[in-house]
Amino acid sequence: MTENEKKKTHLPASRPESGLSVRGRQTPASDVISDLKCRELIRAAREMLKYSYVPYSHFHVGAALMTKAGKIYRGCNIENASYGATNCAERTAFFKAVSEGEREFLAIAIVGGHEGRVEDFCPPCGICRQVMAEFCDLDNFYVILSRSEEDYWVYPLSEILPMAFTPHDLEV
Ligand code: THU
Repeated sequence: MTENEKKKTHLPASRPESGLSVRGRQTPASDVISDLKCRELIRAAREMLKYSYVPYSHFHVGAALMTKAGKIYRGCNIENASYGATNCAERTAFFKAVSEGEREFLAIAIVGGHEGRVEDFCPPCGICRQVMAEFCDLDNFYVILSRSEEDYWVYPLSEILPMAFTPHDLEV
C-alpha cells in the first residue's frame, strides 16, 4: 500500500474484539444486527449511487436507513451551486424517513466514492452524525461502513460520536 493509499484508508485492517465494531461477517454484533440485514442495507445504499446529484464534487454517496420495524429508507447526496445547501446522503435518508413519521431506527449503511466507484470506506460527516444522534439511541444504533457487500464494519453511533450533544442536554 502506498503512503497516499494509507492516508485514504480511514480504518485499520483489524480491530480488537472489544465493543461491537466488527468487520465483515459478524460475531458479537450479530445479536443486534444480522449479516443478512447488513448486506441488504449495503446493497440498497449502493443502488442509490446512481441518483447522486454531484456536479461539483463528483463524489457519489448512497445511504440506506433501516427502521426498527425493518423498513428501509434510501438517500443520495444532493449538491447545490451555493455549496452550503448541499445535503448528504445520510440526511436525505433520515429526512425522508422522519417526514413520513418514522422515529425508531436500527442502522444505516453508507457507501461512497469518486464518480460512484466505491474503493474505500465513507464515514459520515459530523453534521450527519449529529442528525443521527437526534433520533437514535447512541448505543443501539449502528453505522455500517462498507467497501463491498463482504467488506464492512459496524459501529455503534456512540463510538463514532463520543460526548454527543443530544436532546437530553436540553432537559431542565
Ligand atoms: N457527503 C455525503 O453525502 N455524506 C457524508 O457524510 C460525507 C459527504 C457528500 C457531500 C458532498 O456532496 C460530497 O459528499 C463531497 O463532500
